[in-house]
Order: sequence, then C-alpha cells, then structure tokens
Amino acid sequence: MNILEIIAKKRDKKELTKEEIDYFIKEYTSGTITDYQAASLVMAIYINGMTEEEITNLTLAMAYSGEILDLSSIGENIVDKHSTGGVGDKITIILMPIIASLGIPVAKMSGRGLGFTGGTVDKLESIPGYTTSISIEEFMNNIKKIGISLIGQTLNLAPADKKIYALRDTISCTENIPLIASSIMSKKIAAGAHKIVLDVTCGSGAFMKNKEDAILLSKTMCRIGKLADKKTVCVITSMDEPLGYAVGNILEIKEAVECLKGNMPDDVKEVVLNLGAYIIKLSGKGDNLEENKKLIIDSIQSGKAYNKFLELVKNQNGDIEYIKDLEKFEKAKYIKPLLAKEEGYIKSINAEKVGKLSVYLGAGRLKKEETIDSSVGFVFNKKVGDKVEIGDNLVYIHANDEEKCEKALKELEEIIEITKNEIQKKEHILGIIE
Ligand code: URA
Repeated sequence: MNILEIIAKKRDKKELTKEEIDYFIKEYTSGTITDYQAASLVMAIYINGMTEEEITNLTLAMAYSGEILDLSSIGENIVDKHSTGGVGDKITIILMPIIASLGIPVAKMSGRGLGFTGGTVDKLESIPGYTTSISIEEFMNNIKKIGISLIGQTLNLAPADKKIYALRDTISCTENIPLIASSIMSKKIAAGAHKIVLDVTCGSGAFMKNKEDAILLSKTMCRIGKLADKKTVCVITSMDEPLGYAVGNILEIKEAVECLKGNMPDDVKEVVLNLGAYIIKLSGKGDNLEENKKLIIDSIQSGKAYNKFLELVKNQNGDIEYIKDLEKFEKAKYIKPLLAKEEGYIKSINAEKVGKLSVYLGAGRLKKEETIDSSVGFVFNKKVGDKVEIGDNLVYIHANDEEKCEKALKELEEIIEITKNEIQKKEHILGIIE
C-alpha cells in the first residue's frame, strides 16, 4: 500500500477501504506521510466526499491514533459538548462552568480557531496564565478536585485530528461533512465521555450554510455516536449573525464573564439554556428540559456559575484578578466606532464576513504556525431586528494596526445591512436531532 495510490483512488472518486484509511492515519500521525500528500488526500475527500462506511472508518482511525481516556473513575454518565464552530461562539466558556456548578463533572477538550470561526482554546489562552496544555493526570485530578477542566488538544488524544484540523485550516477544507463529523466524533470518542451534546451551527457564520446540510451533519454524527455506544444529541442553532455582541478572543472572554454574571444577550441565552438542558438530561440529573433550564438560571442568579468559572481559571493557573476586574485585560491600540448613516432596522450582519474580517485584524490564523492577536475584534452594539437612528453606534472595532482598522470600518459598513422595513427577530434553535 502506498499514499500515492490512495490519493489517486480518492481523486478518481473511488471508495477507500478500512486498511487504506488506517494506513493513511497511522503514517500521517507518525510523520511518514508529508503535509502536502495529506493535503492532496484531504482535498480529494473534500471534493469527492465519503460513504458512511468511509466516514466511520476515518473517525475510528483518528480516535484510536492516540490514547483513549477512561473517565469511569469520575462517573458513569459523563457528558461532553462540542460546537461545529461559529463566529462569536463563546458558549463552552459560559455553559460548562454552569454545568459544573450543578455538580455534573465536566471534562472537555476544545479546539483552536478554524477558518473564519474562533476557537475556545485561543479564547481561554487570552486569560493571562491560563494553561490549556496539561497532562492527562492533571486533567483527571482537576475534574476530581473542582468538577471541571477545559483544555486544548495537547494531550495525546486523537493526534491525527489535531494534525488534519490544522492542515484543513490552511488549505480551505473546513466546511465539509465527512471531515467535520470525523474530526468532532474522533475527539469525543478519544476524550472518553459517555454521552455527547453537539451544537450544530447553521447559517452564514457556520460551516453548514443551510438547514438541510446541518441536518445531514447531525444525522452523520448521531449515527457514529450510536456505533460507538455514546448517546448523541445534536441541537441545530442559528449562526447567521455573530453570536452575542463580541467577536475576538479577549472581547469574548469579557462577554462570557458578563454572561456568567447574568447579563446574557437573548441569542446566547437560548443556546446556553437548550444545550445545557440536554446536557443535564443526558447526565441523568433531570428528564424535564424546562426544569433543567430553571436549574441553569438559578446557578447564574445565585453566583454559583461565576464562582465555578473563577475556580476553573485559578486551577488552570489563570490570573483571576483579570476576571474580577475586566478592565485589566490588554486593550487594542485603536478602538473606533462605526456610526449609522441612515435610519431603519438591522437587516443582516453576515457572520462569515465578520469572522474573516476578525482574522484579517489578527484574531485568527491564516497559516498553521501563526500566533494570534488576543485583543482585536469587534463589539457590536446592535443585533438583527434592532432599530437604528442616524448617528447610532453600530459596532466598535478593536485593532492594533491603523490601516487595518480603517479597512475594517469600511467593510463593516457594507456588512451591516440596514433596511427601512421592520425586521422580525429570528429563531435561534432550529431543530433537535437524536
Ligand atoms: N470543530 C471540530 O472539532 N472540527 C471541525 O472540523 C469543525 C469544528
């Protein structure tokens, strides 16, 4: 068997065998297959797709490319959560401390930014000192000690996904059902959770642009979950405009902290309540979804969720003084508002374009090796459906480069569409697939 034959087979739209997929994953993880060969195969998969059997084999090969965590010493019903990615998506940072504050253990491995979407790990690392790279022992000890650990994919868990994920990001191969399903489900299988709740985002700021594709991705992941004996629930959520008001690493941490104190934008709240209600249900702590939502609200109102976040940050070496006083965070050099030149209603704020613009400012990566600029991004002042008067502040741009700041101002003027007609606020939860 050799990689050239495998690439040619997928290029020619043929089905790969389990042995060929296993060979590719093993040899790419060990470094025998080069990045450019892997890139060719990934692109061929992107273009020609994969059968259900191929997707399953790819997922399992990636899951077993490293260690498989055994979380049975922590509990029998550990539920993991993952998002298919979005713009302004800070849900994990808000929701998982809430879940832990309810006495439900949280063992979560998150990713870095991918394409125009942000990554939880990049956001957490913008808290000075916060370590996302810890040993498996430390990870397990943290969960036993304080009930939660949020880390990056730095342990030897699904290392094949780590390599392929970073590669996809740099060859325009992010929005693809076989690649997303295998990436997410391999990580979830390796991380050892018994049940899985997935936020499948849908809209301009997601990899799935329409509901049909979001349903297909959800069904693919639920099917893999079933094969792996891990009950999986997919909540399809809208990602047409950025989620919440902030986009960018530090800016989103600040917004997440405000949410944990109870100041939650409506769209963020809907997603937190619905995903959270399913996590509580699957963990065996409550069958009634509405009651579960009340538990979440109580945890926020009582301050338990915020305190659990402080405990998490401290336990992972983060400086909690920054969380207690958000003004301490580094600020971008240029912070400029965009003012409305016409009155009316916000018709749309294309989340993909906002995501790409935030990458341009430095909040994400164009190359695998690039470092990110934590302080840049946007803080919107309006959401779709909001009324606008001439001179209203639509958004603040946070940039460290004056020229980029000016360009972002001009582009945002195009991105934020205003219409004279009243606009209905959209639903945030588009469906549930089990
Ligand atoms: N999140 C992942 O972990 N992988 C993807 O491919 C997309 C989102």
